[in-house]
Amino acid sequence: MSLIPGIGLGTFRLQGNEVIDAVTSGLGVGYRHIDTAQDYGNEAAVGRAIAQGGVPRDEVFVTTKIHHEWLGREALLASLETSLERLGTGWIDLALIHWPSPGGEVPMAESIEALAEARQRGLTRHIGVSNFTLAQMKEVLSLSGGEAIITNQVEVHPYLANRRIVDFCQGHGVQITGYMPLAVGKVMSDPVLQAIASDKGVSPAQVALAWVIARDIVVIPSSTKPAHQRSNLAACELTLSPTERARIDELDCNLRIADPDFAPDWDD
Ligand SMILES: NC(=O)c1ccc[n+]([C@@H]2O[C@H](COP(=O)([O-])OP(=O)(O)OC[C@H]3O[C@@H](n4cnc5c(N)ncnc54)[C@H](OP(=O)(O)O)[C@@H]3O)[C@@H](O)[C@H]2O)c1
Repeated sequence: MSLIPGIGLGTFRLQGNEVIDAVTSGLGVGYRHIDTAQDYGNEAAVGRAIAQGGVPRDEVFVTTKIHHEWLGREALLASLETSLERLGTGWIDLALIHWPSPGGEVPMAESIEALAEARQRGLTRHIGVSNFTLAQMKEVLSLSGGEAIITNQVEVHPYLANRRIVDFCQGHGVQITGYMPLAVGKVMSDPVLQAIASDKGVSPAQVALAWVIARDIVVIPSSTKPAHQRSNLAACELTLSPTERARIDELDCNLRIADPDFAPDWDD
């Protein structure tokens, strides 16, 4: 059983009142896991929504991510202190290295030790990584502190199955969290997903989410609309047949949406 709730609400791109409203309604419809990042510039707003949301703090799982500029020991610890101040949540549930150090500028051992220290200091309950390649996962698991890494958050949707990194992490007891599970809305217009959705009386978004969830991957779709948030949550109850899953498997075309110029050399 994963330490991370199986579905969370993403907050990338959402700012100010929009993110406050999205998180408030997300908590209202039943989300208990919120995903933010230093880079999203919305930690304070996310924290405000959680404080006002009426759900006891210890029932909400809050993830934030450390910007790739702050991966040296001092910078990482200071940036997490700042994140915690902005969130105002008392603790962070999961702190992730958002992207591996561009060009390996900061040694991975230094960042992982600092992350483990942040956990020991009580800044965060769990630690993990994001956008780590196969080679980087092998390295991180060999490091002191690496055994505490509980997740690698990577892009996963029907157009990017990301099988090698998913298989490797799952084979080594590291939970995969799949981001952009709806391919930022692209799944809605897919004919295969539409056909399966119409057979089952559900939406293509639900079909895409159910396919990711069936692979034992935590999903963090984002939505500003309560109706979408509710139906995305309900996708956790949707079961796809082996034939339906196989049809969706065929949509994989290695379409990587999140690929900034500082991204690692993808090896999967
Ligand atoms: N670790 C990383 O580097 C990284 C990178 C990217 C993203 N992430 C995380 O992953 C989260 C999810 O990714 P994402 O937000 O980029 O993309 P996404 O969740 O794949 O797609 C979000 C888009 O889908 C729409 N949508 C949501 N539910 C829908 C539904 N039921 N029917 C129709 N449309 C629907 C939303 O519009 P509405 O608002 O209109 O519903 C929004 O435009 C982010 O918010 C972030 O927390 C992490």
